[in-house]
Amino acid sequence: MERTLILVKPDGVQRGLMGEIVARFERRGLKLLGMKFIQMSQELANQHYAVHKERPFFNDLVTYITSGPVLAMVWEGKDAIAAARSTIGATKPAEATPGSIRGDFGMEIGRNLVHGSDSPENGVKEANLFFKPEELVTWTRATESWIRE
Ligand code: RTP
Ligand code: MG
Repeated sequence: MERTLILVKPDGVQRGLMGEIVARFERRGLKLLGMKFIQMSQELANQHYAVHKERPFFNDLVTYITSGPVLAMVWEGKDAIAAARSTIGATKPAEATPGSIRGDFGMEIGRNLVHGSDSPENGVKEANLFFKPEELVTWTRATESWIRE
């Protein structure tokens, strides 16, 4: 079972796309474990984007992700990482497939609306960075057998 940290980035929040974006993960069949609406601190942004620290766009990335509130979520499921990333679409929205979130709503790499973890290891790590264990809910979804074999 994999977990992925999904963020609706500040542009998605400001543009009123939170509900639209949540609906896509929900309808896809991923299971929500936790959700919160937060203003990310500089420190959390630095930790979250630590892998990109040496990149030329690092400062812009931190400025962007802290420029307003984000909706942070943890979704779970078999193949959650790949499923979430295909629902999100390519990093550059102009190249993202129509039907994906970025392909439907985005144009710029620096305004690409959503974050999704890129590996099962990072999914767990990022979920733990944003959520305490008690903030993640263990629950049984009544429709499970209609979504999963
Ligand atoms: P994310 O982490 O946000 O889900 O996006 P991703 O995996 O598709 O892309 P990643 O390589 O992890 O990059 C993280 C974010 O950095 C910004 N970026 N800007 N200017 C650039 O060349 C550049 N490259 C990446 C994007 O906002 C990307 O989502
Ligand atoms: Mg990434």
